[in-house]
Amino acid sequence: MTCVTLPIQIAPSVLPVDFSKLGEAIVALDEAGVDLIQWDVMDGQFVPNLTFGPDIIASTRSLTKLPFEAHLMVLTPDVMAKRYVEAGCQRLIVHAEACTHLHRTLGNIRELGATAAVALNPATPASAVADVLDLVDMVLVMTVNPGFGGQSYISTMEPKIAEVRAMIRKAGLDDVVNVEVDGGIGPKTIAGAAAAGANVLIAGSALFKEPKGLKHAVTELRAAANAAFKN
Ligand code: DX5
Repeated sequence: MTCVTLPIQIAPSVLPVDFSKLGEAIVALDEAGVDLIQWDVMDGQFVPNLTFGPDIIASTRSLTKLPFEAHLMVLTPDVMAKRYVEAGCQRLIVHAEACTHLHRTLGNIRELGATAAVALNPATPASAVADVLDLVDMVLVMTVNPGFGGQSYISTMEPKIAEVRAMIRKAGLDDVVNVEVDGGIGPKTIAGAAAAGANVLIAGSALFKEPKGLKHAVTELRAAANAAFKN
């Protein structure tokens, strides 16, 4: 089976944005060359933070043609999934830890016309997604504990990234299923994550704190990830 590897994608978490200028930030991210926009949706229950409802996301939909993905850090993803698709999110990421019936939840998302993805918190083993790889277009391996930006990268997640990549390859889904990482991704950590097998890399602080600006940050991160990513 030839392994057709999906391309490296650099995507921002919108979490660190100055929310008084959210629309301008979305336009600036598009102009900086990101591949998609990730919205960190938090319900104050699954994680101790509260962020974007579907109406906020919908208010920025017309500002860019970039794909939107909603990272649903919420206790009840089934309840709100339809609203986030209607808001303009092409991909919904649910946490395995929040889903009593993960297989059914992912199927429901696909029936809504979105692509489905599953996220694993640092303590959750890769085996939790072994039986749903046929339903997703991405597995997100969290490299921080979810809820806040600006946290330190948990490098002990790299073996799990490699394990998930190996599971996808063994299932013959290398050209279908992405591996995403989120949390503490920056110039010093992106190579380790990409070398382990991640091809979609989410950065928040590292993008918005770059003194040379967003475009420079995106370019540098993409170059570092491409250099490290092994087929
Ligand atoms: C955690 C959040 C953060 C954010 C990225 O729930 O998902 O990981 O997206 O933040 P940085 O890049 O600042 O770690």
